[in-house]
Parts: sequence; structure tokens; C-alpha cells
Amino acid sequence: MKTLIAYASKHGCTEKCARLLEEHLDGEVERVNLKKQTNVDFSKYDKVVLGSPVYVGKILKEVDTFANVHVNEIKQKTVGLFICGMQEEHTLRNELDVNYPQQLQEKAVVRDCFGGAFDFSDMNYVEKMITKKVAKVDKDVSAIRKDVILSFADTMNKQH
Ligand SMILES: Cc1cc2nc3c(=O)[nH]c(=O)nc-3n(C[C@H](O)[C@H](O)[C@H](O)COP(=O)(O)O)c2cc1C
Repeated sequence: MKTLIAYASKHGCTEKCARLLEEHLDGEVERVNLKKQTNVDFSKYDKVVLGSPVYVGKILKEVDTFANVHVNEIKQKTVGLFICGMQEEHTLRNELDVNYPQQLQEKAVVRDCFGGAFDFSDMNYVEKMITKKVAKVDKDVSAIRKDVILSFADTMNKQH
């Protein structure tokens, strides 16, 4: 059983989550950062996980494009979908629902929100302003939901 985790990250949180997930998935796992690589040989994989942070309601364009271009290949696999975000629960659920293609939503055996982080040292001026104004936060926060990642991995591992 070989799993592909295809993801993108702007400030490193989704990368961290993808690595944590990788550690807890059974079998061989390949992690592909879609900001660096977009060519994937789907024939190598039985399972595909897609992951992205949400910025102003949207997943990153690299993940969105990859999901839409390869929807037919991905839907042949066991599918898992995740997002990272810092909004409250009902907004996160909605962000998860609207951002990935419908066909993948229907095929997914697991879909979840892995939490998120604010890293001010890595943000530009505009991002800092938005974060202060919208999230009312002015220092670093890490709120990665490790329990959710473990349970996501467990569900993926039970699929044969
Ligand atoms: C400018 C900005 C806009 C954001 N917009 C959203 C949003 O619309 N919804 C959300 O759930 N989280 C939002 N977030 C939180 C990010 O999704 C969160 O920081 C995430 O962990 C970033 O992941 P990354 O480090 O992999 O890029 C926003 C963060 C910033 C800095």
C-alpha cells in the first residue's frame, strides 16, 4: 500500500501537518510539495491525501489546480482531504466543503481540519495586518490538532 500526500504550504504549518501525518500512516508514504513538484505518477499509489492551508476562504492555488486537473486519477484511489485554518469550527467545515472538487468530496473516506498556526516572523505586512484585524491575534499561535491527525491516519490505515 503506497500513499501520496500532495500538499502546499505558505508558512510551514501544513508542511508540519503533512510530516506528522506521514509518520502515522502505514506502508510506504511519499510527500509531494506542490509548490516544488506537480508531476506525479498516479500508478504508484493506492491512496491519495490532499492538504492545503486556507487563506481568505480559499485553499492554495497549487492544490486547487492539482485537485481539479487530476480529479479523474485521484478519484480512482482511496482519498483523504484536509485543510489547515484558524477560523472557528463551523467556518472550517464550510471551507473544507467548498474548496475541494465535489467528486473528491464524495469519494473521500476521511476529511478533516488539522488546525493551524500564526507565525508572525514569516508573515508580510499585509498578512500581519489581516491577522491582527480579523483574528485579533498579535503574537505567534500554534494550534495543530494532533489528535485529529492521528484519527485521520487511523481511518486511512483501515482502508485496504
Ligand atoms: C492573511 C491570512 C489569511 C487567513 N485566512 C484564513 C481563512 O480564511 N480561513 C482560515 O481558516 N484560516 C485563515 N488563515 C489562517 C491560516 O490558514 C493558518 O495560519 C494556516 O496554519 C497557515 O498554514 P501554512 O503555514 O501552511 O501556510 C489566514 C492566515 C493569514 C495570515
